[in-house]
Amino acid sequence: MSVKHFLHISDYSKEELWELLELSKIVKAKFHNREDHKVFHNKSLAMIFSKPSARTRVSFETGFEWMGGHALFLGPNDIGIGKREAIKDISRVFSRYNDVIMARLFDHEHIIELAEHSTVPIVNGLTDYNHPCQIMTDIFTVWEHLGNIDNAKIVYMGDGNNIVHSWLHLSMRFPLDFVCCCPEGYEPDKDLVEKARECGVSKITITQDPTLAVKDADVIYTDVWASMGQKEEAEERERAFKGFQVNEKLMGLTGKKTLFMHCLPAERDREVTDGVMESENSIVFDQAENRMHVQNAIMIMLSDKWK
Ligand code: CP
Ligand code: NVA
Repeated sequence: MSVKHFLHISDYSKEELWELLELSKIVKAKFHNREDHKVFHNKSLAMIFSKPSARTRVSFETGFEWMGGHALFLGPNDIGIGKREAIKDISRVFSRYNDVIMARLFDHEHIIELAEHSTVPIVNGLTDYNHPCQIMTDIFTVWEHLGNIDNAKIVYMGDGNNIVHSWLHLSMRFPLDFVCCCPEGYEPDKDLVEKARECGVSKITITQDPTLAVKDADVIYTDVWASMGQKEEAEERERAFKGFQVNEKLMGLTGKKTLFMHCLPAERDREVTDGVMESENSIVFDQAENRMHVQNAIMIMLSDKWK
């Protein structure tokens, strides 16, 4: 039997993704009811981090331990994946010890390579290219708040980065009205945008006009202007992204009640004002909480621990 990985949202069908959302709801309710759900008793999760993290580390570790298992944190200086040792060697060694491997890496090709050589599920905890656990969590959170996600208008404001790529992957499965509003030169991957449009499932708009973009938005979403690994470009990016800040004025231009979302960490008063972060339409902490529940469901699904 071939091993299942969670590398891109678009590797799964719409039906499978809906099953994952339904499972996340059940797993979340169990956690809130303080029920036991020890499906990973005596199992271990290796967590490989080449970049910093707060949410991903704590949500995976806490979640896996709640499910009865043990999680190991391996930071940038611990194993030196791809530097001290070949990725394919780490993959085969860890497959002998661990039941699930989660990795946050720079180069997307490296997580693909990790998966190619692994005999246990690999979960993508973010690469320079995408962040599938985050965006499955985000759509779960939108579903909780709106009740219906069909053709929801999601307006992403800022850098066309890894977060946007995962939204585009999702838009190839779920019908959305997805808008990415970014300055010239900071658009998401052209080939992926084309592929998502060709899929014909969602309406995809790439624009440079924040005022027009946000009209009728159900959700306005943003992320940092300089991602991990780009911090030396921060000043240049700050100039380019001026005018793309999510502030009270922009939130007021939608013409309806609009939710505010951010994957976090946020740089307050840069890409988003403190006021918008703290506003009653901000659901950023629901998003952060849901990371754990959705990831628990992902690991259950990959390990066939449900049915
Ligand atoms: N949103 C997210 O992945 O947060 P961390 O970088 O803190 O893990
Ligand atoms: N785009 C951001 C997301 C952080 C969760 C980064 O890659 O740093």
